Amino acid sequence: MSQLQDGLGRKFHYLRMSVTDVCNFKCSYCLPDGYHPQGKPKFLSLDEIEHLVAAFAAVGTRKIRITGGEPTLRRDFTDIVRLVAANDKIGTLATTTNGYRLEQNAREWYDAGLRRINVSVDSLDPRMFYRITGENKFDTVMRGVDAALEAGFERVKINSVLLKGLNDKDLPRFLHWIKHTPIDLRFIELMETGLGRDYFNAHHLAGGAIKARLLAEGWQYQTPAPDDGPAQNFSHPDYQGRIGLIMPYAKNFCASCNRLRVSAKGKLHLCLFTEAGIDLRDLLQTRAQQGELIERLHAQLQHKQATHMLHQGLTGVTQHLASIGG
Ligand code: GTP
Ligand code: 5AD
Ligand code: SF4
Repeated sequence: MSQLQDGLGRKFHYLRMSVTDVCNFKCSYCLPDGYHPQGKPKFLSLDEIEHLVAAFAAVGTRKIRITGGEPTLRRDFTDIVRLVAANDKIGTLATTTNGYRLEQNAREWYDAGLRRINVSVDSLDPRMFYRITGENKFDTVMRGVDAALEAGFERVKINSVLLKGLNDKDLPRFLHWIKHTPIDLRFIELMETGLGRDYFNAHHLAGGAIKARLLAEGWQYQTPAPDDGPAQNFSHPDYQGRIGLIMPYAKNFCASCNRLRVSAKGKLHLCLFTEAGIDLRDLLQTRAQQGELIERLHAQLQHKQATHMLHQGLTGVTQHLASIGG
C-alpha cells in the first residue's frame, strides 16, 4: 500500500502516538497546575492501538514514539510496548518520558521491545529542577537515566527546554555531564501555547546563542540524513555525548517534517500546532476497517500545511502540548 505523503512531497515514516493525557509533573511551561481531567477520559484501548499501528505500518510508518502526557503512567504501558514491538514493520520503537518510573522499569520495557528513550531533564540543579517541574524528583530521574543506559537502549536522549531566567546558567553543567556520558542532549526552544503567553514572553530564549557558542568551541554541525527530523545536531571529538537544537522558530524548520501525531483519544494531528485534530477513532474498532482508515489518512494528508501556525502569524492556538505529546 502506498507511502503516506503530503501535497508537498514530504513523506511520513514516523508516528508519535499519545496514549494518555495524564501527567504527574507540573512543568511550568506545560501543565503548571497539574493535570485535571475534563469529564471521564477514555484513552485508546490496546485493541484500538493495535488497529492504529497496523494501519500506519501498512502505509510506511517505520518508527513509533509512544508519548503522553506521561505515557508510562498507563498501567498497561509494557503491554503497549509489547504490542507495537510485535509489528515487524516498526523498526524503531521509542518513548518520551519524564523519567519518574524509569529506574524501576527500564529493564522491563527494554525486554518488551522498547529501544529508544527520551527523558526530560530541564535542569541539572535539583532546586531549579523542582522549580521548573513542580516535583522534587531530580535524583529519581537521574537514577532513571542511569538505569536506561545500563539496560542497553540503543539511544538515550535528554530533552531540556531553554528557559530564560531559569535554566539558562546550566550549559556548563550539561557540557560537563555529556563529556563522558553517551547521551544525546537536546535543547528545545520554548513554544508559545495558549496557556502560557505571559510565560512565553518572560522565558523564551532563542537557541541561536547556544549554536554560536558550540561552533566557537569546536562542536561540528552534523549533516542530517534524509529521514532526520527538524533538530540540528552537533558533535565534538572530546565529548561522548552529542547536542541537538530544536528551534521551531527558525526558518525552514518544517521543511524536513517527517512526523504525524495521534492523540490519546484517537485524533490525527497533522502538525503539533493544529488544535482540533481529525477523528480516527470510529475507524479503529475492527481490523476490517483498515482500508477505510488508510483512505482517510491519505485524504487528510493533502491538507497538511507547509509550516506551523507560529510561522503564519498565529500564536497561542494550542492550549498545551500535554495532550498530543509534544
Ligand atoms: P527523536 O525521535 O529522538 O528525533 O526525537 P523527537 O524530537 O521526535 O522527540 P521528542 O519527543 O524527544 O521531542 C522533543 C520535543 O521537541 C517535543 O516534545 C517538542 O517539544 C519538540 N518537537 C519535536 N518534534 C517537533 C515538531 O515537529 N515540531 C515542533 N514544533 N516541535 C517539535
Ligand atoms: N515548548 C517546548 N517544549 C515543550 N514541551 C512541552 N511543552 C513545551 C513547550 N511549550 C516538551 C518538553 C518535553 C516534551 C514531552 O515536550 O520538553 O521534553
Ligand atoms: Fe512538522 Fe508542525 Fe513540527 Fe513543523 S511544527 S516540524 S510542520 S509538526
